[in-house]
Formats: sequence, structure tokens, C-alpha cells
Amino acid sequence: MPKLKISRLALFSALSALTFAAPTKAQSVIGSGVPASTVSNSTERPIAFAEQAPATAGLVILMQSAALPDILALSPAERSAVEAAIASANFKGKTGSNLELRGIGSRPLIMLAGASQPDKAGPDDEGPDWKSAAGSAVQKLMTQDTELALVGPPDAAGMAEAALGLDLGQYRFDRYQTDVETAPASQKVTISGPQASAAQALWNSRHKHLADSVKLTRDLQSEPANTLYPQSFVDRVSAAFKGVPNIRIEILNEAEMRKMNMGAIVGVGQGSPRGSRMMVVRYTGGSGAPLALAGKGITFDTGGISIKPNKGMWAMKADMSGAAAVMGATLSLAKSRAPVNIVAVAALAENMPGANAQRPGDVVRTYGGKTIEILSTDAEGRLVLADAVQYVADRYKPFALVDIATLTGSVGRALGDQYGGLFAREDEIANRLLKAAEDSGEHLWRLPLHPAYAKAVRSDIADVKNSGVTDAPGASAGAHFIGYFIDESMPWAHLDIAGVDWNNSAKPLTPKGASGFGVRLLDRLARDWTAE
Ligand code: BES
Ligand code: MN
Ligand code: ZN
Repeated sequence: MPKLKISRLALFSALSALTFAAPTKAQSVIGSGVPASTVSNSTERPIAFAEQAPATAGLVILMQSAALPDILALSPAERSAVEAAIASANFKGKTGSNLELRGIGSRPLIMLAGASQPDKAGPDDEGPDWKSAAGSAVQKLMTQDTELALVGPPDAAGMAEAALGLDLGQYRFDRYQTDVETAPASQKVTISGPQASAAQALWNSRHKHLADSVKLTRDLQSEPANTLYPQSFVDRVSAAFKGVPNIRIEILNEAEMRKMNMGAIVGVGQGSPRGSRMMVVRYTGGSGAPLALAGKGITFDTGGISIKPNKGMWAMKADMSGAAAVMGATLSLAKSRAPVNIVAVAALAENMPGANAQRPGDVVRTYGGKTIEILSTDAEGRLVLADAVQYVADRYKPFALVDIATLTGSVGRALGDQYGGLFAREDEIANRLLKAAEDSGEHLWRLPLHPAYAKAVRSDIADVKNSGVTDAPGASAGAHFIGYFIDESMPWAHLDIAGVDWNNSAKPLTPKGASGFGVRLLDRLARDWTAE
């Protein structure tokens, strides 16, 4: 613990030194903040694999039922003590349940964590949920200042899943916290079982990259908007892709976008002194046309001239969650060398009021020539995406396109925080996404794209308007708007994640705060779906 204190204090003084260093010209224009990329989160528990659980570690036992699994880590006496505790606490091993035991043998603690899913109405109903069991256990043991060993999954796949759940569950965004007294423990955790070396190999080649990519996405979502703006998003994502093979990155600045007639994204960003950007990352791991992923990247959404009320406005720092998710998914696929082709685009702008901000009533022309009447400057996500989806379809000829955006408050009111909203014209792409959702544990619920709701976005003076004055369902109207810019022949799905990008309370795989929603889902979708 003292070691951790010193390093976090040192980190903070390095941070202060940088804050007060002479500002660059760009910083003096945009206001100085804490440089985003100079401080990292404090040390998490490193993950190791071994056949034997270290003798002095706190033991976490993942349980599929009330029956204690056959593990080497317990002596016969310890085993019967744990069995007595299971019986007296009536512990059934249900997912999400935990039983913490102390004073048994010489271990600092023994925690039982449920992995069984008896409730078939639940979302993941196949096999034990090792991920959630490990994630919820590590969260309960956040400040347990000892090494841990985790046992229970009988095979390599289960062990790697448990490691993934643990790593996702232990995520925290604490780079700006200087109160070291409350720092969580950072001793390692050893996932133990007979297939340790196969589990380690799986982890190294795949699960670790997925976990790291989800963490990148969560870091981007969590980072405040005084440090995360379009160019710093580009810088941080570029740094994450540095050295990763088969990657090409293209950045469009505002002048370039203006030249290409991307009037919609330029209009959204023009109230902010921070320039808008379009970031395109291509990963070529296979053959054939790519799958296109387009993400809404509003680094802060004040609403613009149609300004939002202050209540909850701080959360609009995460209005770039879609952009962060497409970059996270692409990073995971690239780092694990998946045999697929991806083109990911992040449509980045800051939506601010200002003397040069666009007004309600303005008309803008988009990349493909179609025009939009702005009725609300707060319906800005669909605007930046209008240019992004047309650009990516035109330039990269994808075989399908999925966009992901924190688009409407409406979807959160309809679906809450357990499902992202899915919109698609065709069942095939919808079903692929529903399957990927089921397999990844990031759940979607399909909502309608009824043609009647398309009328809500017809404009009197332009092709479409960006917000309806009718009482059409908001999330469907938003989806129709984006669909207007996508050729009918293109398989397309729209994911509205405004209800799931941010957790108000912890879930086993997602602590309170940024969820990283979409990374696991899109990673899964892309692996299962390549061009014919
Ligand atoms: N970023 C918001 C949507 C949002 C709301 C995300 C709450 C997360 C939590 C989006 O840009 C927005 O303002 N949407 C408007 C659309 C309306 C003006 C047509 C909304 O939902 O009210
Ligand atoms: Mn908005
Ligand atoms: Zn927004």
C-alpha cells in the first residue's frame, strides 16, 4: 500500500507540473485543462494464470450450484468448513450472489461467487456465467488488500471468461483522484485451474485485447470535455493503434470537410473553437468488402443554441460513446488479428452555443448533396452521422453499415439501462445483431422503423428536417433520419445507446459510470459476419 501512495502522489505532481507548463497556442484558444494523455488510471489487479492457487492468497470460488467444485486449493478440513457455511447460509450459487467467509484455514478470506443462471428469463441463459461471477466478486473485494486466487471454471475457455469478467469488473476511472487513502487494492489475482496454460494463451491472444479495448472506450467516455475534444480524441485513439499491424488511419479536419460539402458536421461544430474532425480507421485482416461502423462523436453536447437545461448536462461529456465504441471494437479485432475487414468512422464535433453557432431554421447541405433544415440544434448526432455514413459508404464501399449513437433520450425512456435500441430495415441484419447481442452479453431490443414515422422528418423547405414537430416516437424518427442518408440496397442497422452508455449503478461487468457498451457487441458481430 505505501508503494501505491508514493506512486500516485508522484503521478499527481507530474500532472500539476504539466498543467502549469506554458500553454501552447491551441491551448490558449481553447482554455487550459489537464492534458488528457499524461496520467493513467491507478494500478488495477494484474491477472495471472497458474495450475495451483497461491497458498496465501484470498480464495474466490466461482460456483455453478450449491455444490463446491472439485478444487485442489482446499484441505479436507477447510472443505468441510466451507460446506457447512454453504449449508447454513443456504447459498445456491445464483449469479450475482456472494458469500464471504473468514477464519477458515490460513487464507485471509474465502469468497463464494455464484455463476449459475436458473432464471431462464434472464438474458444469458446458456451455461455458467463465469464473467459476471468474477466481475461481481472483484468489485466486492476492491479494497481487500491481499493477493487473490480465483478457482472454479473447469476448462481454459471458462478460465479466460472469468479473467475477462474480472478485468471488466475491476475497471475504474480514477486518474483525477488524489485522495490516496481510499485507493483500491492492486495485488495480483491468479486464475487457477488444470488448463492454466491454455487459458493463458486464450487470454493473451484474444480476451486481453477485448478487455483493454473496452477500457480504452470507457476511458474516452469518462474523460471530461475540457480534456477530450475532437483532436484529442483523434490523438488518443491514434496512440492506441500505434504499432498495431494492418491499420490505416485517415483524419479529415474542418477545412477538408468543408471542401467535401460536409455541411452537417461542420454546422454542428461551428459554435465551438475546437475544430470538428472525421476519423477513419481501417483494419484489413481479411479479404473482400469491409463492414462499416460509424459512431456519433459529440465530445460535449450543450444542445447548442437550442440549449439544454443544466440538470444532468455534465453527462453529455459521454455523447461520444458511439465513436469510442467503434474505435474500441476495431482495436480489439485488430489486436487479436481477426480475419475481417473493418472501416470505422468517428464523427467528432463539440456542440456549443456561440456567436458563430448554427441556428434553428438554418439549412445545410451534406456530403452527398441532400439538404437538411435544422429545427433543433440539439438534434446534432444525426447531423454528424448524416455526413459520416454517406462518406464511408461512398469511399469504402462496405457490404453493410452499422451506426451507433447516444442519439435520443427517448430510447432510454423506452428501454431503460438494460437494452440498447436496434433499428433495421431488414430482418437479416437485425437478427445478426440480436445474436451478437445475446452472445456478447450486451443486449439489444428491436424497435420499429415504421414508414409512418418517416414523415416526422420531412421538411417544407429542405429534403429533411432534423427533429420532428409531430408526436412520432423520438428514437424511431432519429433512426429514420439517419436511414434517409443510406441507400436502400445497403444492409444497415442503427443502434441507439443513449440509455446504456452510462451506468448509474454498478453491474457485474461494468462499475458505475462509463459502460463501454458496443465494444463486445460489435467485436462479436464482426467476427461472425464477413463479406461473401
Ligand atoms: N445526446 C442527446 C441524447 C441523449 C439524451 C443522450 C440523454 C444521453 C442521455 C441528443 O443529442 C439529443 O439531444 N437528443 C434530443 C433529440 C431531440 C432534440 C429531437 C433528445 O433526445 O431530446
Ligand atoms: Mn443533442
Ligand atoms: Zn447529443
